[in-house]
Amino acid sequence: MAEYQTHEYDVIVIGAGGAGLRAAIESSAMGAKTALVCKSLLGKAHTVMAEGGMAAALANVDKADNWQTHFRDTVLGGKYMGNWRMQQLHAQESPERALELERWGAVFDRTPEGKINQRAFGGHTWKRLAHVGDRTGLEMIRTLQDKGVHQGIDVFMECTIVELLKDSGRVVGAFGYWRETGKFVVFKAKAVVMATGGIGKMFRVTSNSWEYTADGHALALRAGAELIDMEFVQFHPTGMVWPPGVKGILVTEAVRGEGGLLKNSQGERFMERYDPKRMELSTRDQVAKAIYTEVKEGRGTPHGGVWLDISHKDAEYIKKKLPSMYHQFKDLADVDITTSPMEIGPTMHYIMGGIRVVPESGAATVPGLFACGECSGGMHGGNRLGGNSLSDLLVFGKRAGEGAALFARDNGAHVGFDDAQIKRTEQDVLRPFESRASHTPYDLHFELQDLMQDNVGIMRTGDDLKTAIAVFPAFNEKLRGARVEGSRMFNPGWHLAWDMVNMLLIAEVVARAALQREESRGAHTRLDFPKTDSGGYWETVNSCATYEDGRVGMGLIPKPVMPAELKALVDATA
Ligand code: FUM
Repeated sequence: MAEYQTHEYDVIVIGAGGAGLRAAIESSAMGAKTALVCKSLLGKAHTVMAEGGMAAALANVDKADNWQTHFRDTVLGGKYMGNWRMQQLHAQESPERALELERWGAVFDRTPEGKINQRAFGGHTWKRLAHVGDRTGLEMIRTLQDKGVHQGIDVFMECTIVELLKDSGRVVGAFGYWRETGKFVVFKAKAVVMATGGIGKMFRVTSNSWEYTADGHALALRAGAELIDMEFVQFHPTGMVWPPGVKGILVTEAVRGEGGLLKNSQGERFMERYDPKRMELSTRDQVAKAIYTEVKEGRGTPHGGVWLDISHKDAEYIKKKLPSMYHQFKDLADVDITTSPMEIGPTMHYIMGGIRVVPESGAATVPGLFACGECSGGMHGGNRLGGNSLSDLLVFGKRAGEGAALFARDNGAHVGFDDAQIKRTEQDVLRPFESRASHTPYDLHFELQDLMQDNVGIMRTGDDLKTAIAVFPAFNEKLRGARVEGSRMFNPGWHLAWDMVNMLLIAEVVARAALQREESRGAHTRLDFPKTDSGGYWETVNSCATYEDGRVGMGLIPKPVMPAELKALVDATA
C-alpha cells in the first residue's frame, strides 16, 4: 500500500465556495477543530458566477417585500417541487445572513438612503437582489474568505478528495491526493460537510469551470447517501454564444434586471408569446425554453442564439451597474454593450437536485455526513430563482456547519477506518497509469459532454434518455481502461480520469431521473410528456437515487407535505 499523511479534525468541509466557507466559519465558531479542503485555490469557486445578486427580503427598495412573499415566489418558481421547510428557512433567514455578511465587510451597492441596494430578477415579485454591481458572488467569497482565515480555519488547497471513509456505517473522514505531488492523504474527521458545488462539466455548453465535476454528489452517493431531484438541471438563459472559445460563459441575469430586452432575429420581443406578464423577467426555465424555441424555429442569430440588448440605457449607467459584462464583451467578443446587443443562448448553470438533507441541520441520510449549497438538494425544486443560490449557501452553509459541529461534539472520539477501503481506492485511482489503451480521459470527456448535451439537455425525450442510459455500461468499461501518461506530479489527465468516474456516475443518475419523471415541470422538459401534472401524482413525489453493489437505484419518495398555513399563503396569490 502507498504511504499517506494523516490529518485529524473534528469537522472537515470539502469545497471552498460560499457554502463551504460559511459552513467552516460556523463549525469553527462553535469550537470544532475545522479544516476546509478544496481541489482548486481558495477563492476560486462557482459562487462568483452568481453575479447579479443575493435574494433576501430586506425590503430596502420595495417596502412591501417580506419573507412570506419570498417564500411564495420560491415555491412557485420551483414549480411546487421544493422542500417547503428549506424554502421557509431560506426566506426567513436570508435577510439576517445578508446583514451579517455586511457586518463582516461586504461592500454592497447602496440606496440613496445608504441601505443595501436591491434589484429586480426573474420570478421575484419585488426588487430583492442585494448586489455589488455584477460581481456579487466575488464580493461574497472575498468576505467569507477573510472571515474564515482570520478565524483560524485550516485550509488545504489543491487536494482532490476521491472517497469518503466509512466505519460501521458512519462517515469518518476522507481520502484524497495532493494535486501537485500526487501523494495520498487521509483526513480523519468526526463529521464531514460536503460543499463541492455542481456538475456542469458533464455538459458541452456550461457556465461552470473545470472544478464542477459532480464530486460531492458522487462521493456522497457512493457512501450511501441519497440524491433527490436530479432530473432538474438549470440552463441559464443567457450565456455567450460567440466566439466559440467563450461559448457558455455567463451573461448575468442582472442585464435583464436592469432593463435588458430579449429580441429574435426579426427584432421581436419574443417573450411576449411565452410570458407576456413578466416578459424578460420570467423564470429561467421559461426564458431558456423560449430562446431554445426561437432558435429551433429559425428566428435565431447568426451563431444560434438571440439578442440581449441594453444599449437603450445610458452608457455610464451600464458601466456602473454591469462593469464585468461591459469588459467581458469588449475583451472577449469585441462588442461594446453600451451601443450594440449581445448574442446569447442557454448555458448549463446549476443542478437543483442533490444530496438529501435534513433542512435544519444539513444532515444527509448517512451518519456523519452533512451537505450544503449546490450539491445538496430540496431547496430549489424544479427550477431555481436567480439570486436564491447565494442566500441558500449562506443560510444552509451556516446550518450545516452547526449541524456538523454538534454531531462531532456528541459523537466523541475518532473512530477507526478501514485500511482495505483505502487500498481498493488507491488501486482504482492509480489504474490509468497501467493502461495501454489508445483512448484517454480527455476523449471520453468530450464524448460524455456530447452525449449529455444532445440527449439529456434542455429538451428531452424518452428515446434520447434511453439512448444515453444504454451507453453508460460500455462507457464505464472504456473509462476503466483509459490511459494517462506521465507521472503523478501535477498531471491534469490523471486528475480528469477520477473526475470522469464521478461525472459518469452522476450523468447516469441525471438521465435515469429524467426518464423516470413522465411530465414536464420547471427545468425538466419532456417532449413526449409535454404537460405539467399540476396537482397530480408527479407533484407529490421527488425522485431519489441510491447506489448499491455498484449499481444506481432510481425510485420515488413522497414529497414532504406543506403545512396548511403555508399552503394558504402560496395559494392566496398563485
Ligand atoms: O445571472 C446571474 O447573475 C446568476 C445568478 C444566479 O445564478 O443566482
